[in-house]
Amino acid sequence: MRPYVYLVSAITIDGRIASRTGFSKLSCPYDLKRLHELRARVDGVLVGARTVLVDNPQLTVRYVQGRNPARVVVDGSLSIPLDARVLSGEAPTIVLTTSGAPKEKVRALEGMGVKVLVFDGPHVPLRDALERLYDMGIRALLVEGGGRVNWQMLDQCLVDELIITVTPYLFGAGTSLAEGPGYADVEEAPFRLELLSAERCQCGQEVVLRYRVICKK
Ligand SMILES: NC(=O)c1ccc[n+]([C@@H]2O[C@H](COP(=O)([O-])OP(=O)(O)OC[C@H]3O[C@@H](n4cnc5c(N)ncnc54)[C@H](OP(=O)(O)O)[C@@H]3O)[C@@H](O)[C@H]2O)c1
Repeated sequence: MRPYVYLVSAITIDGRIASRTGFSKLSCPYDLKRLHELRARVDGVLVGARTVLVDNPQLTVRYVQGRNPARVVVDGSLSIPLDARVLSGEAPTIVLTTSGAPKEKVRALEGMGVKVLVFDGPHVPLRDALERLYDMGIRALLVEGGGRVNWQMLDQCLVDELIITVTPYLFGAGTSLAEGPGYADVEEAPFRLELLSAERCQCGQEVVLRYRVICKK
């Protein structure tokens, strides 16, 4: 069993989640409040190591009342710094890593109260990792990027709902919503998307699209 997975992202009209310099503050205040409402409803929020390195997010619930979900970081080589905000004591943190990661960094994280799950092989197998998170009580999980994590989650059919805020900006380069080898055509993706809703964000210029992700197999 794995958690129910929401993948949430704010994109520019050309599908970028960050500019070529890593700038990614795309959400308007209402959209941020909606994101925090969603965080308060799930048991875990997952990001990739590079999102921690570039954005240094807290991943806590601040713009609404509610409990903090566990923070989950996919970090195969344990590159995130020990003073990253995601490791603060405000909420539990789980780091998913590989057996190739430095053992002393594993020990340092554990010494800070962080739960470290170590997987054999060069990459964290995300399906197995999600099953481990489910066994730890995470029944609903919010994936908040970045592009490389988003690609793997979608390509491995591990997402149930996709919630995309299209913002009125264009970057022309940078990180896309999903960064991977890519699909040759519209048939190649292992999933199809069913539009559940399209709403104008209360801020005025943004559109929130919700899709159900249906695995083809
Ligand atoms: N607009 C938005 O809503 C939004 C949201 C989040 C992030 N962002 C932006 O997205 C950008 C980051 O995206 P990104 O694609 O560069 O990086 P990312 O997906 O955040 O992180 C990728 C890194 O995570 C680790 N990782 C991911 N999957 C792994 C696996 N299966 N096994 C082991 N390690 C794994 C790897 O680290 P190692 O290579 O060190 O092993 C990989 O390089 C940032 O600029 C951020 O600002 C935007």
